[in-house]
Amino acid sequence: MEESIKKDFIEELNTIVSAQDLQNLKSKYIGKKGLITEKIKNLGSLSPEERKIQGKALNELKNFIEDLIKGKEIEITEKEISKSLRKDFIDITLSGKNYYFGGRHPVNETLLQIIDIFKELGFTVEEGPEVELDYYNFEALNIPKDHPARDMQDTFYVSEDIVLRTHTSPVQVRVMEKKSPPLRFISPGKVYRCDSDVTHTPMFHQVEGLMVDEDISFANLKGVLVYFLQRLFGQIPVRFRPSFFPFTEPSTEIDIGCIICGGKGCRVCKQTGWLEVLGAGMVHPNVFKFAGYPEGKYKGFAFGMGVERLTMLKYRIDDIRLFFENDIRFLRQF
Ligand code: PHE
Repeated sequence: MEESIKKDFIEELNTIVSAQDLQNLKSKYIGKKGLITEKIKNLGSLSPEERKIQGKALNELKNFIEDLIKGKEIEITEKEISKSLRKDFIDITLSGKNYYFGGRHPVNETLLQIIDIFKELGFTVEEGPEVELDYYNFEALNIPKDHPARDMQDTFYVSEDIVLRTHTSPVQVRVMEKKSPPLRFISPGKVYRCDSDVTHTPMFHQVEGLMVDEDISFANLKGVLVYFLQRLFGQIPVRFRPSFFPFTEPSTEIDIGCIICGGKGCRVCKQTGWLEVLGAGMVHPNVFKFAGYPEGKYKGFAFGMGVERLTMLKYRIDDIRLFFENDIRFLRQF
């Protein structure tokens, strides 16, 4: 009897591949209502002799079955582990995912190039506050109280006599108050004007420049600025136009030959063949006076440029607002 149970069990065991089936088989034979369990329960109805023999045989059979099930359990778990190892295999020789590294903002890129060029020419870098006294932004730059540049429409006023600087020129006076010539520095930074369209944003960047000594002439201005523009844009034509700034005399605006059409005339240069890139001039004697320099002793030139504008020309970008929208698709192009 036991022998045939044993045989059946072994046959069934051999067909089993899953843990669930093994569990079922286990219940069938040695579970609470299993074949063997039932038989053990029935031992009571046998005579003492019979019970002894049967009891021993059933116990042995039970142990035998338990051992085989244990063995099968181990076998199945091992198979499952190696199966999942094969499935979750990590190929460490595969190349990794692409990461995007952050890059410099195009405006900063241009700014750093500008600084590099002037550093080579011996210019240092100075900084001034963005929230500025009316005095430095206007008064000390020879911009009288009734000058149109003070119009409420252009200037952000913080209070009666404090403004967001509308240009970097106030740094000229701040530095001259502290240092004596010879002076040779540039001053990059943010400036603010109440203005917004395709070519204007309320905040933009300028680089100011100032060179002062006893014998600085317009020739120095021309030499430095033509060299600078040709370093930045390559061998392009440069022209000087007479202009007006209250803090320089004479004053000039400097154009480069249109880098889009090569001077033939296009939409960007408004058919003129030229693009305005710099304001400059010889420092007005009144500015030296405000800075506290002795009258007539020094001469110098100053200049200012818009960094966004230069960047737009360099990379042929036709809307200034793109710089400040932080669209990652735009920024990744640089
Ligand atoms: N500050 C002038 C501007 O913002 C530029 C400039 C600077 C002109 C220095 C002359 C000298 O337009």
